[in-house]
Amino acid sequence: MADKVRVAVLISGRGSNMAALIYAARADDCPYEVALVSGDKPDAPGLDLAQAERVDVLRLDGKKLGPSYWEGLQVSLGDARIDVVALAGFMRIIPASFVERWAGKIINIHPSLLPRHRGLHSHDEVLAAGERVTGCTVHEVTADLDDGPILGQVEVAVLPGDDAQSLATRVLIAEHQLYPRILAEFVARDTHPEALLDQVRALALALPEAAEKVSHGSPGFFVKGGKFFAYFSANHHGDGRIALLVKISGVDEQMMLIEGDAERYFRPAYFGDSWIGIRLDLTGTDWAHIDEWLTRSWRTAAPKRLAAMPI
Ligand code: GRF
Repeated sequence: MADKVRVAVLISGRGSNMAALIYAARADDCPYEVALVSGDKPDAPGLDLAQAERVDVLRLDGKKLGPSYWEGLQVSLGDARIDVVALAGFMRIIPASFVERWAGKIINIHPSLLPRHRGLHSHDEVLAAGERVTGCTVHEVTADLDDGPILGQVEVAVLPGDDAQSLATRVLIAEHQLYPRILAEFVARDTHPEALLDQVRALALALPEAAEKVSHGSPGFFVKGGKFFAYFSANHHGDGRIALLVKISGVDEQMMLIEGDAERYFRPAYFGDSWIGIRLDLTGTDWAHIDEWLTRSWRTAAPKRLAAMPI
């Protein structure tokens, strides 16, 4: 089984969503683990709870530290080998540089059906507008407040007589259901064979005159009028690996790559010396790098008139 994706949860208060994520992660088949809980308030009650649950806790004071808070947090997330950041009642505006660093790897939960009722007073606004249905949303975090791509929502009925407090309490129940489920789906994008194949396919077929067909029992990518330049291998010959196979210069490069990172690179069975296997089921796959591998491999397989093309 692939490594679990390491998640940091950032909170500012009670941390009930954080707790929901921690408890959901105790299921054997949960694809993530809560590897760190931190935030901007060193005495947030949720931090004590995380500690009691034997999760690593980092107490930082956002107010005192000022801008260096974000640098410190960044270093700590790196030290803890965090893959994904989940915000759960984290009350600090996040600088664009931090969001950029975590682009595609940072998500948040908000107690309304976004894009309706962004900001801090969602429940009051729902009641004032006389809406009959509200809910909660998990979304990717982008530079704009409560505005990233929506990953999932749950609707919650507004009852006659509800006030902001009673509504918040009921929406919170839905939050606790939604967040662990969506986080699991979100991180699985990086470990599930179908999701990985989709990403490889998008990059491979973006290359000029590239096409796909099954070969050697795996999805293969070739250049029309040329040869195969990549294969997507999912548990091929029962090897338990999900990997991309691309062309390289030969046995020397193959050995060098494997010696440099024996976990990620391997010699693909039955393919010989001019191919390398690159595992995609380890955390931290660098997709820009995968794109470079594909492009280079495509050049070796393309007919001359195409191979010379700038891409
Ligand atoms: C939740 O309602 C969440 O949607 C919002 O802040 C609240 C945090 O609650 N962003 P908790 O700390 O998770 O209990």
